[in-house]
Amino acid sequence: MGYGHPFTRQFLYCRMNYQETLQAILNDIEPARGKGRVAAYIPELAKVPADKFGMCLLFINGEQYGLGDWQEKFSIQSISKVFSLTLAVSKYGDKVWERVGVEPSGTRFNSLVQLEFEKGIPRNPFINAGAIVVCDMLLDGFENPKLEVLSMVRDFAGTDAIHFNLAVAESERKVGYRNFALAYFLKSFGNLHHEVETVLDLYFHICAIEMTCEELANAFLFYTNHGSAPGREHFITNSQTRRLNALMQTCGFYDEAGDFSFKVGLPGKSGVGGGIAAIHPEAYSVAVWGPGLNKKGNSLMGLKALEMLTSRIVPSIF
Ligand code: DON
Repeated sequence: MGYGHPFTRQFLYCRMNYQETLQAILNDIEPARGKGRVAAYIPELAKVPADKFGMCLLFINGEQYGLGDWQEKFSIQSISKVFSLTLAVSKYGDKVWERVGVEPSGTRFNSLVQLEFEKGIPRNPFINAGAIVVCDMLLDGFENPKLEVLSMVRDFAGTDAIHFNLAVAESERKVGYRNFALAYFLKSFGNLHHEVETVLDLYFHICAIEMTCEELANAFLFYTNHGSAPGREHFITNSQTRRLNALMQTCGFYDEAGDFSFKVGLPGKSGVGGGIAAIHPEAYSVAVWGPGLNKKGNSLMGLKALEMLTSRIVPSIF
């Protein structure tokens, strides 16, 4: 997919051999392959081999470059929080911000302490508590929010081959003690309208969406392209898209958001499945997948690859 956008940046025309330079990145990060820890707190994710790695770079004009396991499905986990938030913003606009904040958390994605401190208004929509409130909004706004999210993501990615992995959703439900705690906490503060089980059922399914790097890069082109995708033209406004991108920049990597800004310099979102999707407005989207995580729960190999990408090949936003 591509939009041949009139704002396509000048650097697209300096004819670099992207496939070769991406391959050089892969060679350089090879020593990190298999390092880090696969997310084991969701038993189904613990089965994923740690030595996978894929990357897809997609320019707004449709030029696409893939590397390694870029066409293999993986669990997008918290990357899905960008999609559910997009749907909520399309439905409720600024009302979303009455129930969830827009400040970086500086704490882990599933912190209970912070929620207590802030009296049930989650710091931002990308920490688990914030995404759970967003799911509650989607239950208010749509008859079948699971289908609504899935169909939006399929349109963004330009393919119907995107599904929930039901085994992953069920696996997380069985051991989702922290998310249950967060949801009951939110309920006690009056910031959850629906039953905890119903909200978390939606939350676990959305986290369990499976996509490839290619599909993710295509879906994230929506955020590169002012909130428009084929079949979803002007789905959200330009200004709403800029704000979602700002949130990805400041909150997309939890307590590692500063480091990601410093080293990579792109709005993006990570997931404990080992995926990261990031964008440069009006220029390109990129998705990486490496299941081995660092201590903060972000892909070890993915972070290295993106740092090299914006140091050597394409500009960051700064
Ligand atoms: O709720 C959870 O813990 C997972 N479904 C998602 C967490 C996640 O991906 C955080 N990102 N790095």
